[in-house]
Amino acid sequence: MATSARSTRFACLHCGWTTNKWVGRCDGCGEWNGLVEEPVPPAGGAEFPVVPLTPALPLTAVSGTDATPHPTGIAELDRVLGGGLVPGSVTLLGGEPGVGKSTLLLQILGEPARRGDRCLYVSAEESAAQVRRRAERVGVLHDGIHLAAATNLDHIDAHLDAVSPDLVVVDSIQTVFDPALGSGPGSVGQVRQCAHRLVTLAKERDLAMVLVGHVTKDGDLAGPRVLEHVVDTVLSFEGDRHQAMRMVRAVKHRFGSTGEVGLLTMEAGGLASVSDPSKMFLADRNPRAPGSAVTAILDGHRPILVEIQALLVKAAAAHPRRSVSGLDGSRVGLLAAVLEKRVGIEVLGLDWYAMAVGGARASEPACDLAIALAATSALTGYGLPHDTVYLGEVGLGGELRSVHGLERRLAEAARFGFEHAIVPTSGADVRAPIELIPCKRLDDAVGAIANR
Ligand code: TYD
Ligand code: MG
Repeated sequence: MATSARSTRFACLHCGWTTNKWVGRCDGCGEWNGLVEEPVPPAGGAEFPVVPLTPALPLTAVSGTDATPHPTGIAELDRVLGGGLVPGSVTLLGGEPGVGKSTLLLQILGEPARRGDRCLYVSAEESAAQVRRRAERVGVLHDGIHLAAATNLDHIDAHLDAVSPDLVVVDSIQTVFDPALGSGPGSVGQVRQCAHRLVTLAKERDLAMVLVGHVTKDGDLAGPRVLEHVVDTVLSFEGDRHQAMRMVRAVKHRFGSTGEVGLLTMEAGGLASVSDPSKMFLADRNPRAPGSAVTAILDGHRPILVEIQALLVKAAAAHPRRSVSGLDGSRVGLLAAVLEKRVGIEVLGLDWYAMAVGGARASEPACDLAIALAATSALTGYGLPHDTVYLGEVGLGGELRSVHGLERRLAEAARFGFEHAIVPTSGADVRAPIELIPCKRLDDAVGAIANR
């Protein structure tokens, strides 16, 4: 490994205290194991990416167009990003191994390359041949996409000089290293230092850069949290490896909102945007099956219909089990308690299995009513009215509480041919092309279904 004249020091991740020798406990703030190695900044130089000196201007004289996003051509990703990637910005794409990060980032180069942008894919994990085979598979073989297998940051810098790209992908931040540091790739100090240098390079060259970051099972970026602070945008890429559904959401976004969720499916030829999510989530639904209820979630501004399924069986052990997927486990527990105590349906002693079908996430309180009714339907063995959607938060007193964005959710249900909606009484006046059945309490909703 090349050695450089730069010497290193240790800095505390929590308070910034520095020392020349590593110690287990920070003298500045007392935190344990927070010290990471970093190069000593050049005398008089800046430690962090710097913005060049420019005069302060009246706000009205400042151009609002320098942050124009460039579309990636992946419709769902562009929606999450508010149009695309911004030149001079750095985006971190975090996700578990195998979720499809490398595939997505290779695909985002296709459209810009066809537009004439110069693109560079830096592979620090896989061989150039592996990346080429993937490019063939997802259909992005293009002269405008350059490929470099590199892990040394100095080499990456040289590739940037040689290619002068508009768009760069570095896969991954955990496998590149700065030879100026003694520690190996993936160490906290390396990840932090490499991110700082890459951000500086992107800003200096006004190029859009996307970094891959592996996350651990519990969702933490394997590396310092400071990574999230140095980049402009943090995207989280999620999905079950055994299912085709993938979700991309912005956890942090300097150029737009963080509410939108992009839906993609992993196909034989790469990732494809889901154009009609409700249709996909309801595709295999059996409308008359007991234990099934349809609700509408709101992902950012977009309403999506989702099927909730429940199955309640005699408890197999002394402590009843609650197995949930795609739902908020603690809300399911709350609903069991409310059903038993406020509605008088005995469910607390039963094993619960409850899920949002198709890999969807329905953790909003607005889905409470659908979960509770799916459970009662599972218990009685009678299917719920198949042309009805269920919307409402359930309070501890058994009351139905209001749902935000009700109008949009109802419009989506109507688009799909649903004719009735059980809603909280507060939503009775909402204009919607669907018949509303307002209910004050959960037991009213249970009664309303029994009468239909
Ligand atoms: P990959 O992008 O390598 O994931 P990551 O970089 O997050 O580790 O892709 C992971 C999986 O996707 C891999 O097991 C194979 C599958 N895959 C497809 O199903 N279709 C495809 O077109 C490609 C390229 C991959
Ligand atoms: Mg990969």
